[in-house]
Amino acid sequence: DSFDTLVVLSNRQPYRHTRDADGSLAVDRPTGGLTAALDPVCQRAGGTWIAWGDGDGDRQVVDENDRVDVPPTDPSYTLERVWIDDDLADTYYSGYSNRLLWPICHGAVDEAKIRPGDYDGYRRVNERFAERVVPHVSGESLIWVQDYHFALVPAMIRERVPPSTTIGQFWHVPWPKPETFSRVPQARALLDGLLGADVLSFHVRRFADRFLTCVEYFLDDASVDWDASVVSYDGSDTQVVAVPLGIDADEHARRSQNLDDGVYETLSAELSIPDGTLLGLGVDRLDYAKGIEERLEAIETLFERRPRWRESVTFVQTTTPSRTDIPAYAAYGKRVRRVVDRVNERFGTDSWQPIVYTESYLTRDQLTALYRNADCLLVTSLADGMNLVSKEFVAASVDETGVLCLSDQTGAHDALGDVANTIDPTDRESVWRTIDDALRMPVREQRVRMRTLRARTAERSLSWWMSTLFETFAAATPDRSISP
Ligand code: G6P
Repeated sequence: DSFDTLVVLSNRQPYRHTRDADGSLAVDRPTGGLTAALDPVCQRAGGTWIAWGDGDGDRQVVDENDRVDVPPTDPSYTLERVWIDDDLADTYYSGYSNRLLWPICHGAVDEAKIRPGDYDGYRRVNERFAERVVPHVSGESLIWVQDYHFALVPAMIRERVPPSTTIGQFWHVPWPKPETFSRVPQARALLDGLLGADVLSFHVRRFADRFLTCVEYFLDDASVDWDASVVSYDGSDTQVVAVPLGIDADEHARRSQNLDDGVYETLSAELSIPDGTLLGLGVDRLDYAKGIEERLEAIETLFERRPRWRESVTFVQTTTPSRTDIPAYAAYGKRVRRVVDRVNERFGTDSWQPIVYTESYLTRDQLTALYRNADCLLVTSLADGMNLVSKEFVAASVDETGVLCLSDQTGAHDALGDVANTIDPTDRESVWRTIDDALRMPVREQRVRMRTLRARTAERSLSWWMSTLFETFAAATPDRSISP
């Protein structure tokens, strides 16, 4: 691309090295939309990705600069690891990032916790990452900061690098309303940090507009040009854009097309998914923002009110446990498992479980097999930046059947909502009724909708996302090509 150097910063690393019981090294790929999206971008563009080395085998494989080439099997870019000890991680990651910013951004104000020392840890880690960027900057560099873990980083980098450097920030989670954001004691500092970027992007316009509203509300000395979507502050401009993240739809379709039927047969036997029932599917990180408990309760109501579905539809819910050190997450996992047990106890028979629940790791082929065989996918997030699962399901539905039930609180809904079956997750009645409708939808109608969903997902793909953003980066720093 047009930049000499690309440096990506994120909290989560795309590859983690762990030590098995026998001391041998293994590599895993942490879950979450962010790393799934950025890894192919970096594989294509090269450069350096700086992230927290949180694996117990991570130190073993790096060089003297804490770098290792990845992907391990066929390296195309460099991963540079930053070490964060347990105490600091507790304040920066489990504390400020995930006990405060995550719930605030997702409108879960009851979960938001303010603890002394958390912000200080957050600031220190932000500084550590900003310092690690400096040695990489040369010529026309693009520094691309990811997500809510690093709100202070853009301004910290700006102080340390030449003006020809382009700084972008992508905010992968929703941006809250001003009344919610005002609960963050450091609201002004976070805005000040983010406005160090030349380009700040969100998935959808709604979030970008809320950000601009917050800027007007909290920063007296900033001015917002709403038409141009530009903030002028502290002598420089920040372009605020909405560019929805996509997936490599072709690759997902190809994987689904080429998948051996045996993958599903083996998996369904392992999980005891019976043959011959309809299949409802949920795929989520185990997070209260995903509305999993509410979804399972809606399924319970469905079986109660529509007995015809008993023994004729099975719901498979796969979850990936996440942030388990945080009490709200541990408690949520327990509540989810309790609802599963209750529903299975109430309606299950000798040969059928209404909900098949698993927290086991699934391979990409296994996940594709579930997507391909599902009659409907349930996305009931109470708030969600984008939700790539909905797009993966659509891309994997190569036979053009299956129904997407999609929460209107996801970023994905902005572009797919008129063809998906919309769920209002706050209205419990609507959730089970939408599932009921989805299960009864004639195949002809499924096809009409699925064709449109697939076309839109393919059009707004991952490569579209990347090229749109890179054009915005290039346009935001026009003088960057003028040599000093
Ligand atoms: C969301 C966030 C990511 C995060 C991911 C997984 O997608 O936007 O920044 O990496 O969740 O969460 P975790 O805390 O396990 O990294």
